[in-house]
Amino acid sequence: MNIAVIGKGAREDAIAQKLLNEGNKVYLINESNIKNNNVNIKVDDFFKIKEFCNHKNIELIIVGPEDLLVKGITDYFNNTNIKVFGPKQDYTFLESSKIKAKYFMKKNEVQTAPYIAFEKFEENKIKQIINEKKGNLVLKYDGLAAGKGVLISNNIKDALNNLEVLKTKYGKNLKLIIEDRLIGSELSIMSITDGKNIKIFQASQDYKLSHNFNKGLNTGGMGAITPVDFITDNILSEIKKKIIMPTINGFKKENIHYLGFLYFGIILTKEGPFLLEYNIRLGDPETQVLLPAMKTNLTNLINLTLDKNLDKIEEIEFNSQYYMSLVLASKGYPLDYATNKIIKINKKDLNCNIFYAGVKKDENNNLLTNGGRVLNIVSSDNNLERLKNTVYKCAENIDFETKYYRDDIGTIY
Ligand code: GLY
Repeated sequence: MNIAVIGKGAREDAIAQKLLNEGNKVYLINESNIKNNNVNIKVDDFFKIKEFCNHKNIELIIVGPEDLLVKGITDYFNNTNIKVFGPKQDYTFLESSKIKAKYFMKKNEVQTAPYIAFEKFEENKIKQIINEKKGNLVLKYDGLAAGKGVLISNNIKDALNNLEVLKTKYGKNLKLIIEDRLIGSELSIMSITDGKNIKIFQASQDYKLSHNFNKGLNTGGMGAITPVDFITDNILSEIKKKIIMPTINGFKKENIHYLGFLYFGIILTKEGPFLLEYNIRLGDPETQVLLPAMKTNLTNLINLTLDKNLDKIEEIEFNSQYYMSLVLASKGYPLDYATNKIIKINKKDLNCNIFYAGVKKDENNNLLTNGGRVLNIVSSDNNLERLKNTVYKCAENIDFETKYYRDDIGTIY
């Protein structure tokens, strides 16, 4: 098949790689020129993308990031002979509005953290709740915020400070949720669904904070690991019963014809699993470990989903090895960071795959940094300790002046 993957990150590079390995002709529309199949068209220029797809006889578009889905790329290609894999704009509220997503969860008995929604900014009432809960809570901005709209606190001072941050950023029209702060291990479950049937990927964990020991600022993700050893069959059954099946039943009840990838961000507490959020796409950097680990043919899986035949396969299969991804970032990320630093890769003994994110090429063919998360190093092994050594050795064999990475990816917190 001729397929276009759209998006500028390492996740899209990993999707393109998997589809390429399965024998497709794959174009990666990522505003770049690093690899031969990269296409330098703006990812939100739907008109140009359509022209390009027509020119190259592309039959299928896979969308990486949520913002393009929220902008309605799936609807844009409706009534053309190009299929877009991703939900229609009407169903993107599951990620683009935390409040609407919570209403959906509540209505459909999806187990989620207790919350109070503020559709209007009632500052005094919010401060009263912060005091009552002693600041032990999570403030979530209602809209898309690229991972920066979720602020966690465990005392009143921090909670009030977080409120001020959101108020400064979003002004008086700020809509938000106050959610109870749950304690436990977080995990990500990706899935693929046609709205009636759903198949889940094996569990993965991402490392969201910028520094070791899960400290520092929230980022897009600093690394990932799959599988997750503490996910037993019992825990998985509970996740299915309390979160995944109620979601699908909710789609059926509410006539939501969701089609695409669906990501469940889950926290496992002493009281069981709770859904923290839906994302309407695959996770980054979880995809960079899940797709290399996936034995099932992704092209078939997507086509079965598009044809509403997902019930024709049993389960999605994965290799039994551990897969780990480490993000090499530019120092300062997720705040300010330098770009245009030359990247040198010592390819000798590099037992890792590299997926590109914030990278570009100059006129002399040098690779340069061009973003906060620069690239992802991925490898696999039966032995987790050996895998960590391999990945960190690869990190030492890649150099750029502002290179920064966490040293503890693979540790279970
Ligand atoms: N890894 C978190 C996300 O993709 O949102």
